[in-house]
Amino acid sequence: MSYSFIRQFVVEGRPASLKIDALPYGMNDLNPAISKATLDYHYEHLAKTYAKRYNAGEGDPDFNEAGVFLHNILFQQYQDPTDSNDPRGAVGELIVKHYKTFAKFKDEFEKVAMAVQGSGWVYLAKDGKIKTITNHEIKKDIVVLVDWWEHAWALDYQSEKKSYLKNQWKIINWNHINEQSTI
Ligand SMILES: [Fe+2]
Repeated sequence: MSYSFIRQFVVEGRPASLKIDALPYGMNDLNPAISKATLDYHYEHLAKTYAKRYNAGEGDPDFNEAGVFLHNILFQQYQDPTDSNDPRGAVGELIVKHYKTFAKFKDEFEKVAMAVQGSGWVYLAKDGKIKTITNHEIKKDIVVLVDWWEHAWALDYQSEKKSYLKNQWKIINWNHINEQSTI
């Protein structure tokens, strides 16, 4: 173990290196909710760049570390698009408890998302609230995460952010959410 690793981990509380996890689906599998072109740009270029810059000691380490953290949650929670993709299990119960129906939850989520100015994220938290993140920040209470940065939607949806959000609900893998989250 190198001195620099020990110093980074012990003194600064940071991991020595970070990586973006492999996708559990193909680059074309989220189409049309997320096109191959967007996924390629977002996953292969942008997300991996946060890890590369962190590992190279370039830029703001907090920003890059949080960027890796959030994108690793984001890309793992997707599956092939399905029109009837209602939440189930613990996450389904959390949504019904706080919003009564999935439709009402989606409306509320959209309201919160559309009020965000600038770059950020929107997520369902473990306490049932819909919360936002400005730029990048590590949060330990994320259940379902939506990337609200322009790079996530602009190429496929131009300015139609609501359409992007509606299609997000078609590709959330609720089984994965239930397996990952301690709701
Ligand atoms: Fe992103």
